[in-house]
Amino acid sequence: MQRLFLSSRKVLTGREFHRWNRCFSHAAQKEASSLHDNGVAAADVVIPIPKIPHFDYSPPPYEGPSADEILAKRKEYLSPSMFCFYNKPLNVVDGKRQYLYDDTGRRYLDAFGGIATVCCGHCHPDVVDAIVTQTKRLQHSTILYLNRAIADFAEALASKLPGNLKVVFFTNSGTEANELAMMIARLYTGCHDIISLRNAYHGNAAGTMGATAQCNWKFNVVQTGVHHAQNPDPYRGVFGSDGEKYARDVQEIIDFGTSGSVAAFISEAIQGVGGIVELAPGYLPAAYSSVKKAGGLCIADEVQSGFGRTGSHFWGFETQGVVPDIVTMAKGIGNGIPLGAVVTTPEIAEVLTRRSYFNTFGGNPVCTAAGLAVLKVIEKEKLQENAFVVGSYLKDRLTALKDKYEVIGDVRGRGLMLGVELVTDRHLKTPAKAETLHIMDQMKDLGVLIGKGGYHGNVFRITPPLCFNKEDADFLVDALDYSMAKM
Ligand SMILES: Cc1ncc(COP(=O)(O)O)c(C=O)c1O
Repeated sequence: MQRLFLSSRKVLTGREFHRWNRCFSHAAQKEASSLHDNGVAAADVVIPIPKIPHFDYSPPPYEGPSADEILAKRKEYLSPSMFCFYNKPLNVVDGKRQYLYDDTGRRYLDAFGGIATVCCGHCHPDVVDAIVTQTKRLQHSTILYLNRAIADFAEALASKLPGNLKVVFFTNSGTEANELAMMIARLYTGCHDIISLRNAYHGNAAGTMGATAQCNWKFNVVQTGVHHAQNPDPYRGVFGSDGEKYARDVQEIIDFGTSGSVAAFISEAIQGVGGIVELAPGYLPAAYSSVKKAGGLCIADEVQSGFGRTGSHFWGFETQGVVPDIVTMAKGIGNGIPLGAVVTTPEIAEVLTRRSYFNTFGGNPVCTAAGLAVLKVIEKEKLQENAFVVGSYLKDRLTALKDKYEVIGDVRGRGLMLGVELVTDRHLKTPAKAETLHIMDQMKDLGVLIGKGGYHGNVFRITPPLCFNKEDADFLVDALDYSMAKM
């Protein structure tokens, strides 16, 4: 039987091989015909090995334990639930701008950005300076005393939000921010029911796990009061890109699944963990309208799509022209410092005065000093504009690659939040899981670190630091091209 080795764990059977081979034969034929036009024999053409763009920096030598030693410690002392990318996990020891370095000093292009977190670039000097300066002066105080860091950052953050969204609560993570937002909505409305979207990821604590809607991220514990609406997924959804049609499900949930009143609707504008699914145009205005009529608040989860990542806008919800009642954020807000926030209106914020609400580290001076530095870097270096220009260029190049390889089912997203979905059959949209893993490993060997997501684990997630440039984009696409051609 004909067999193809895809990775050390996956061997394709004969039938699987034929399906896989079919995906690439189309590309091979196209390549061959263009070569014949140029009078060159197909067999003579070799795609050159892509080279990482030049970058003038050498990290200090690494003198720590080897990857194997760290892995052994991790296995012995850390939760068995922790997982690593790659057949041979990477020991990352240094970072500079859009690049990471392993323990041998080898440089990699970071196209995942610590899961859409490192927005200014690794170890940005302004952010590092702000952290070090504040740490040397005062590392922790709690909000029981005054300190300028939390106040200055809250003011700067509020200035980036529309309408009356100007009261900020700081948290330590995205999960905490969403937990708080959901509780605020329940307190404000006196209702319990919350509507979220299927395929969403909003965190993994008691309430947020309820809002998260992918079974592989949900444990079998009590999760109450969340209804999951049909996902307005333009690629896999039944209504294609007609956002208003999907939004009817929100109204139906309100009509048939609740008392007629709800606490909130929560959604990402572009689902990150769900595989870079940009909600169908027109969805949010229609869904928000139903929720508002039912007395609910609209929560925008900007944990991944905020801080200029979408390029066209500073916040993801702005791409659909809506103004939420509550905005939650984390990841990019601190360029890697543990920090999250909930921003809402003064009237809604008032509900937390009914009891004592306190968070020991929320608004910590070091974290908020870092947050302020991040905002300044995004503005000073025009990172949102860069995300737009480079992201559009990268998306065009990825879309062109889709014509070459049938395994690419969809290219989507905006700015530097892009997704490439792999399928073994374009018509059936059969997820190409093993191929995704294999190509990821190949890309790593070529020097490109890319993310993965989606319910089926068959979507490449491209969410690099926002200082990513066109040469980086070319390198990424060339590495993808090379890896696919070699399959
Ligand atoms: C959209 C979204 N919301 C919330 C979270 C939870 O954030 P954290 O992991 O910081 O708790 C995530 C994490 O990936 C996320 O992508």
